Amino acid sequence: MGWRSIMESKQTKINIMGSEVVEGFVCKPKKLDLNKPIMHFKTQLFVCNDERCAKACNEEDLATYLRDLLKTLELHRGKNRIKISRTGGCFGACRFRAVANIYENTRANGYLSNNNIWLKNTHLFTKNRWIELFRILSKNKKIDESNFEQISMAEYL
Ligand code: FES
Repeated sequence: MGWRSIMESKQTKINIMGSEVVEGFVCKPKKLDLNKPIMHFKTQLFVCNDERCAKACNEEDLATYLRDLLKTLELHRGKNRIKISRTGGCFGACRFRAVANIYENTRANGYLSNNNIWLKNTHLFTKNRWIELFRILSKNKKIDESNFEQISMAEYL
């Protein structure tokens, strides 16, 4: 194999959905296929990334930190995949910062009991605390029966 072939093979990166990735990106596909579905997830965790929550967190980029953590737990893919998304704005719940929301994919294998849960004080979570949360979610145990602090919701007016 010549040096050019070696360089080309080293530069070809395939993302988790099987698409070739644009150089310098983690998962951006080279060829855009508008009909390709988004990747399955069982649970989606939205972490607030607006000013107050982001400042409270120790991690500069919490979403990337959590995605890397999920990879070590093998929960970044497969049937029980947990998807991490960061908000582009404030959840309007800053007094509970840092805030994260849990949404379950109830159209597939999401666990209804853990759907629409708002967690507070996530800036205090250690690595082990995040792991504990991810294990509870992936095994469909009830967050209500754990000791994770939740933001309660007012009655409908
Ligand atoms: S900045 Fe996170 S809830 Fe407002």
